[in-house]
Amino acid sequence: MNLQLTPSQRDVQARAREICREHIAPRALSRDTSAEFPLDDLRRLADAGLMGVNIASDLGGLQAGVVAYSLAVQAVAKADPAVAVTMAVNNMVGEVLAYFGTESQKQTLVPKMTSGEFSSGSFCLSEPGSGSDAAGMLTRATRTPEGWRINGTKAWITSGSYAGVFLVWAQTSVEGDDQGISLFIVDPTLDGVSVGPPEEKMGQHASNTVSLAFDHVLIPGDALLGELGKGFRIAMMALDGGRIGIASQSIGIADAALELAAEAGVGNHPQSADAFEMMHARIEAARQLTLRAAWLKEVGSTNFSREASMAKLMASEVANDVARRCLALVGPSAAAYDHPLAKLVRDARVTRIYEGTSEIQRVVIARDLIRNGAA
Ligand code: CAA
Ligand code: FAD
Repeated sequence: MNLQLTPSQRDVQARAREICREHIAPRALSRDTSAEFPLDDLRRLADAGLMGVNIASDLGGLQAGVVAYSLAVQAVAKADPAVAVTMAVNNMVGEVLAYFGTESQKQTLVPKMTSGEFSSGSFCLSEPGSGSDAAGMLTRATRTPEGWRINGTKAWITSGSYAGVFLVWAQTSVEGDDQGISLFIVDPTLDGVSVGPPEEKMGQHASNTVSLAFDHVLIPGDALLGELGKGFRIAMMALDGGRIGIASQSIGIADAALELAAEAGVGNHPQSADAFEMMHARIEAARQLTLRAAWLKEVGSTNFSREASMAKLMASEVANDVARRCLALVGPSAAAYDHPLAKLVRDARVTRIYEGTSEIQRVVIARDLIRNGAA
């Protein structure tokens, strides 16, 4: 792994930092209060190519790779984690379409995601009764002469009120066969799709999280994405990459917290200097783990699940610890609800939940360790 950033990776990082400095960071706190979805900043990110950093240029992406993508998410999360998660989910959806889609599916949808014509895509896997046990989903797609009919409910879907496209996982097995779970492209404006009210979360208020109900939604026969019955594998592959995105988001949160503590003079006090330096070292360790997982994906490694889960597990724990500790070191004023450090503590919590809880990352790591042995 090359530890020196390339000119193209630096360029992506610089583009992200500039938009963050000019537009995203100055409005992060007011957006946290208003819970306003960041449509204008998503458009700015798209105009700079940052809604498709790892997407091929013929689909409107920057084709700058996964390491550059991680650097961009880190920068955006440092300014506002809510914008970063929206960007990360859009990326995950775009990559699934670009990798598994037919030529027509790719050309119809991915350029709209990279250009900002769609403010985002949504990844619709979790359900009210199946989050960690994703294979336990109840949503079902039934084949009919006109296409597929989808029935079911998805829960906690990021950007669901604003997405231009939904990727929806559903059971497709019929008695006597083994056609498991399949993946479908669903137009959010179709009859029978209803979007629930935004969830009132403890943090990341400017990101949008909703439930979605599908009531006999008719989609065309060619809306199947990838092979029939192979959707669960696609979800797992996408989440390997998605976890690099959330690890990157977590690092951005930790970077922001440490910087706020430094600005408050925390590192200057002998009593807190030790804690401060250790936090810095832990953030860098998590960053290297994350960049390594990103690099493995970038060079086409066929199995980087363990590395992606280790990065997500470690970076999300570091983000939570660093944000809480920095708040304590700065003192009571930082505990006010709308203080930037209090916001980071609130924003950090969910990094240990979505894209697989910390316990699920441990399951993935342990299974791979047992199967393939230690490093
Ligand atoms: N790559 C490719 N294939 C994989 C894979 C991977 N990383 N992991 C598993 N598979 C395949 C297996 O090989 C197996 O295939 P066969 O049936 O052909 O043998 C199949 O998938 C089933 O695998 P498992 O037996 O391991 O599946 P499981 O039911 O035991 O589940 C799990 C394992 C790790 C717990 C999984 O369910 C999981 O990751 N759960 C967490 C779900 C999650 O992360 N949800 C996030 C939703 S998106 C989100 O949250 C976005 C956001 O917030 C912003
Ligand atoms: P459960 O699976 O019910 O878990 C409850 C507890 O039990 C957890 O502590 C968990 O770690 C533990 N547990 C469960 N199974 C095991 C096990 N096998 N071993 C050890 N411990 C276990 N989902 C999407 O599909 N798309 C999205 O865009 C999306 N966005 C989200 C945004 C937000 C803000 C949130 C909060 C969630 C989002 N999710 C999304 C859902 C998220 O992926 C799930 O919440 C997560 O996977 C956990 O599932 P669950 O909430 O059903 O918890």
